[in-house]
Amino acid sequence: MLVLGIESSCDDTCAAVVDGAGVVRSDVVIGQAATHAPWGGIVPELASRDHLANAGRAVERALAGAGVGLADVDAIAVTHRPGLVGALLVGVQIAKGLAWGATKPLVGVDHLVGHLLAVFLVRDTGSSSAPAPGFPFVGLLASGGHTGIYRVDAPRADAIVELGGTRDDAAGEAFDKVAKLLRLGYPGGPVIDRLARSGDARRFPFEVPMGDTATLEMSFSGLKTRVARHVRERAARLGDDVGQDEVVDLCASFQAAVTGVLARKLVRAAEREGVVDVVIGGGVAANTELRARVQAMCDERGLRAFVPPIVSCTDNAAMIAYVGALDLERGRTSGWDLVTSSATLLPRITRKGGGRR
Ligand code: KG4
Ligand code: ZN
Repeated sequence: MLVLGIESSCDDTCAAVVDGAGVVRSDVVIGQAATHAPWGGIVPELASRDHLANAGRAVERALAGAGVGLADVDAIAVTHRPGLVGALLVGVQIAKGLAWGATKPLVGVDHLVGHLLAVFLVRDTGSSSAPAPGFPFVGLLASGGHTGIYRVDAPRADAIVELGGTRDDAAGEAFDKVAKLLRLGYPGGPVIDRLARSGDARRFPFEVPMGDTATLEMSFSGLKTRVARHVRERAARLGDDVGQDEVVDLCASFQAAVTGVLARKLVRAAEREGVVDVVIGGGVAANTELRARVQAMCDERGLRAFVPPIVSCTDNAAMIAYVGALDLERGRTSGWDLVTSSATLLPRITRKGGGRR
């Protein structure tokens, strides 16, 4: 079975061809960093326009890369939620047009399910197959739009529940906002990751609200405010911008605070659920320190960590095609009335906002 996947929920225009076993035959990502960088964040309207300009080319390249034509695929899977609605509309309309024209089934996929199951993608068929987690597993999904810990009992949307999520900013959003504050450009995660390597994480011991509480809920906006206050107070005191040595120490300290909370809560979730397999996914799972911390904490506790390659963590259409293939196998396809939504279908337990619970 071969499925063509299309992903346009945020600022990457993606198309991929994947088979029913999760083997990635092609994986195309056309980024929009240059479009959004001058604004220091994603401008939804500009994202939609770029998707419109690039989606056809992404699909063409994905099919050519897999050495197949549209007639050879068994279905077209597309992200239809959650995400920027205008951006999602572009991918969904293209998927509908292709499915209609080629008389293929259409499968709408929830982006978060894609991230949580991306660990099963097989990218290097040359080596012996990489070990995959068993079910149930506990998965951390940390991206620019979402941050939560999930229990995954089977590879289907209706077998996934949230155990706790952020009450405010997503972890990736915090990386992007702190990078903007330090004038490091967009997207912030990869830059902070790089600069943090030469910084001293002990110089600014930032505390994260709810960082050590028993709950699996999280909060990152207070941490971002603390970094902002530090930068403001320093400028008022010394009358100049933060110097490079301080920037790297701020990056290291901020990153240590975020990744520490994510790794601790993830491991706590696994222990609470009595589950040994632990998975990470989403753009922030590309972070060097988070990957190392999760691996080390799992090793210490006899848990098994599954850390996917970076291309499977950041947005891609291979994960969408894979979920589409699993759905198709179960006979679950979408109709022409498939719509987009900014919200996930996965059950949420974390309420947004502060205050006592
Ligand atoms: O999953 P993703 O590609 O798109 C969304 O669904 O949001 O995640 C993008 C987010 C951005 O906030 C980006 O700054 C962050 O992931 N990110 C990272 C790293 N690479 C990407 N954050 C920390 N360290 C990284 N290496
Ligand atoms: Zn994503």
